[in-house]
Parts: sequence; structure tokens; C-alpha cells
Amino acid sequence: GAPVEVDVSKIEAGAMITVEWRGKPVWIINRSQAMLDALSNHDDRLTDPKLEVNQQPEDCKNADRSIKPNLMVLVGVCTHLGCSPSPRLQSGADMGADWPGGFFCPCHGSKYDLAGRVFKGSPAPINLLVPDYKYVSDSVVRIG
Ligand code: FES
Repeated sequence: GAPVEVDVSKIEAGAMITVEWRGKPVWIINRSQAMLDALSNHDDRLTDPKLEVNQQPEDCKNADRSIKPNLMVLVGVCTHLGCSPSPRLQSGADMGADWPGGFFCPCHGSKYDLAGRVFKGSPAPINLLVPDYKYVSDSVVRIG
């Protein structure tokens, strides 16, 4: 499939958009500083916090799983059986007090954080996929 170019400059802090790439949803989340801070407080609850399974390009193999810290790019397809998880971007609320923000798959209950890392106890075995992408300018990202 062809690469997709996306203007990411209009995504407000704390918000996400969904684009289609190779027939799949790709989420682009502009993580706020509070969201980024929350990424570091739950490694012990994750299946693969150190990103040992190759589910991201080399330049995203870091604590934020992204090129620029705020902007998260994820293929929105559950690694269990391929449903599309739903955003639960805000911490707490209906997901429980210890919820740091992320995604919930309604099919069988897999949970992912705001870097797409899967929580232990989920049927999904590995983290969500970060596709290859790059910045073609400050405001435009090319996926694929
Ligand atoms: Fe997402 Fe099964 S497809 S939990």
C-alpha cells in the first residue's frame, strides 16, 4: 500500500485522530505532558515494558515508543484477534483509579497504555504495532 501523509499540527494536546493506512486504522495521539509522565509509573503491570518483541521501528524503541515524545503513532488493531480497541485516553474514570490512560479492546478485554503497551492479564500477547513513519516537515508525518 501507498504511504499516507498526515498533517498532525491540528491535533490538540490530549487528543487523537484516526487515519486509514493499508486498510487499517492508524491512531495519532498528541500526548499531553501529564500523559507522558504517566507512562513511567506502571512498567511492572506490563507484559513487555522493555519492548523486547519487535513491534516498533528502531527509532521508536524508547520509553515513549515515538520519534518525538508527544506524538504517538499506532496501528489500532488488537494483537489478540484483530478487533479495534477503543480509546480511554484519560486516566482513572470508568477504567478504575489506577488507569493511566490508554486503550481498551471490547472484544475480550485487552488493555493497552498510551504507548500501546499491553497490560498483563490481557489476552493480547504483544504490544500494539508502531508502523514505520517519519516527519517530512514539522507538521506532516508520512506513515509507511
Ligand atoms: Fe482484542 Fe481479543 S481481539 S482482546
